[in-house]
Amino acid sequence: MTSKALTTIILAAGKGTRMKSRLPKVLHPIAGRPMLGHVLAAAGALEGGETVLVVGPGMEAVSDYAHTLLPAAKIAIQEQQLGTGDAVRSASAHVIHDDGVVLVTFGDAPLVRRETLVGMVERCRDESDIVILGFEAADPTGYGRIVTDGDKVLRIVEHKDASEQERAIRLCFGGPMAVRAGHLSSLLAKLTSNNAQGEFYLTDFVAHGRAAGLDCSALICPESDIQGVNSRADLAAAEASMQSRLRADAMTGGVTFLDPDTVYLSFDTSFGEDVTVGQNVVFAPGCRIASGATIKAFSHLEGAEVGEGAEIGPFARIRPGSSIGRKAKVGNFVETKKAKIEDGAKISHLSYIGDARVGAGANIGAGTITCNYDGYNKFFTDIGAGAFVGSNSSLVAPVKIGDGAYLGSGSVVTKDVGADALAVARGKQIEKPGWAAAFRAKNEGIKKASSGD
Ligand code: UD1
Ligand code: MG
Repeated sequence: MTSKALTTIILAAGKGTRMKSRLPKVLHPIAGRPMLGHVLAAAGALEGGETVLVVGPGMEAVSDYAHTLLPAAKIAIQEQQLGTGDAVRSASAHVIHDDGVVLVTFGDAPLVRRETLVGMVERCRDESDIVILGFEAADPTGYGRIVTDGDKVLRIVEHKDASEQERAIRLCFGGPMAVRAGHLSSLLAKLTSNNAQGEFYLTDFVAHGRAAGLDCSALICPESDIQGVNSRADLAAAEASMQSRLRADAMTGGVTFLDPDTVYLSFDTSFGEDVTVGQNVVFAPGCRIASGATIKAFSHLEGAEVGEGAEIGPFARIRPGSSIGRKAKVGNFVETKKAKIEDGAKISHLSYIGDARVGAGANIGAGTITCNYDGYNKFFTDIGAGAFVGSNSSLVAPVKIGDGAYLGSGSVVTKDVGADALAVARGKQIEKPGWAAAFRAKNEGIKKASSGD
């Protein structure tokens, strides 16, 4: 059997009514990327086979997003949302290998693991005509229940169609189903919409398959690997499961979290070994943290590289395009954006460094601001290696501070400063001896006269 023999169908045409959203359900993010991105990462081009995404009319945003991750994905349009079985029907023209396997998976079940799907496909080839993915739900409300007889799977009954007795079953259908391709058209032909929702249910494949003498079995996975998202509450629950998974993976990889439950990761956050992360830290997408770095409490990072042994925070905001060098330090209430902070540089307190380079070993004093924006354009600030920028300086970009230069505190720097020079750009201090005493004496006299004492 060639690897082409697998066709994966991802269902994403549903209206997602229960989300109460203008955004298609499968584009709602989990751990910083749309649900569909997670599903494509797990199910896309499995075994190098064909991937077909089923969308509704006008859902170009969904197909366009899928193509950014998997340009080869085929798109099938389901004209009317008549149910999951009908959605599979609209993709069936893409199933061209009768001797292969068709794997159906749902765009709203973002936690599914690639290895689970691979296991289903293998079992479908080797043992069963139909393999479904099941899980024991803590609260099965809303899910299709799997009716079994010993280890035989008899049918799946949807919540709305289920009897009281069936509703007591906690073994639920998670969405993924593998079917031998040769049976697909006969199973589709048997579907009817004679049920509580008036829909063509994919889940009826099981009962029809059994009636035709096919072997149906269930693979069981933990709930946290398959829970579905139909509502905002489900979305929050799936996010929590994904966060637990990402944290566990990071710890396995050698990261210390001082309080794991308060750290939020993105799908692509990457850590070297011996990174320490304090409490209440957020890693938005696009962060790479190298070995031995420390991210202290209450910091927020996005689109940033942090070098080996660097120290960030507490309370630092590292925005996209920031790269923080080895052993560099970015301290409390410092914001960086599109900034290259080179090795060993220090920005310890209360600064904004945007569209800038801070050379190796430079020291940026408290309250330093790069004035990078004139309301229309952004300009670059270049601070040389070993430069010392005095506290409360404003660097009006474009401007260049040479290597090893010193800036006097409180300077507003509008012109380039040469290497190793001292620049001071602030009002000169004047002193009038006795002025304050005379001022007080005069005013106290006036006050006494007017109060009549
Ligand atoms: C479905 C299953 C249920 C299972 C649950 C797991 C059916 C009939 N029910 O219920 O047994 O426990 O998922 O999460 O299959 N879709 C289409 N076209 C349609 C309808 C749906 O593409 O006409 C897509 C949706 O975009 C979604 C997926 O199919 O990605 C599932 O549809 P949804 O309406 O969420 O089904 P559930 O009620 O969750
Ligand atoms: Mg669903």
